[in-house]
Amino acid sequence: MKKIVILISSRGSNMQALLEAKLPCRIAAVISNRADAQGLEIARARGISTAVVSHRDFADRESFDAALAEAIDSFQPDLVVLAGFMRILTDGFVERYAGRMINIHPSLLPAYAGVNTHERALQDGVKIHGCTVHFVTAKLDNGPIIIQAAVPVLPGDTPDTLSARVLHEEHRIFPQAIRWLCGGQRWLDAQGRIASNRIEQVGTTLISPGLD
Ligand code: GAR
Repeated sequence: MKKIVILISSRGSNMQALLEAKLPCRIAAVISNRADAQGLEIARARGISTAVVSHRDFADRESFDAALAEAIDSFQPDLVVLAGFMRILTDGFVERYAGRMINIHPSLLPAYAGVNTHERALQDGVKIHGCTVHFVTAKLDNGPIIIQAAVPVLPGDTPDTLSARVLHEEHRIFPQAIRWLCGGQRWLDAQGRIASNRIEQVGTTLISPGLD
């Protein structure tokens, strides 16, 4: 059975969704860059190994990433899963896990890479927003896309209400992406594209606001 290591920075609701999803892989460990990440408690309560590599203990990104890689590699994972891991990673770190590190991002990439995605979507007045699971490459929030979910932006939405709607979908698509990758139904091909041995199900159209 394949092994995954999950990296978190705080709340850990995506991590929790993965722990509850009965994935076809073993969750070898949850690692955080913050000792006070709430998600660590949730993982410990389920008997999952946890580790903390605090970025504050290191003088620069290179030495932090080296220590993080050492912690990750001690569990020998097939897949590294960034679930709300809020650190910019060095190119060397990304290269080390090329093709075996994925991230969840709260926007329909390539729109709204970076932070404050919900605030920026509301400011722009977009009618559809969402979330993306993608492979991690050197360019921030830019790797091959595995799955996305779109949600309507509703009148009166605040960053909090929109974020909650998106997060609900994050908890659905993240387990699906890992199920595909660990089950061998999707992988990254030599050209860096997502390949599949299944006929893809078509998604449904979202029109927002709806037609009269
Ligand atoms: C999630 O919305 C995730 O998509 C986002 O942080 C949140 C973590 O919540 N990640 C990023 O913004 C990465 N660029 P969680 O800790 O409850 O899973």
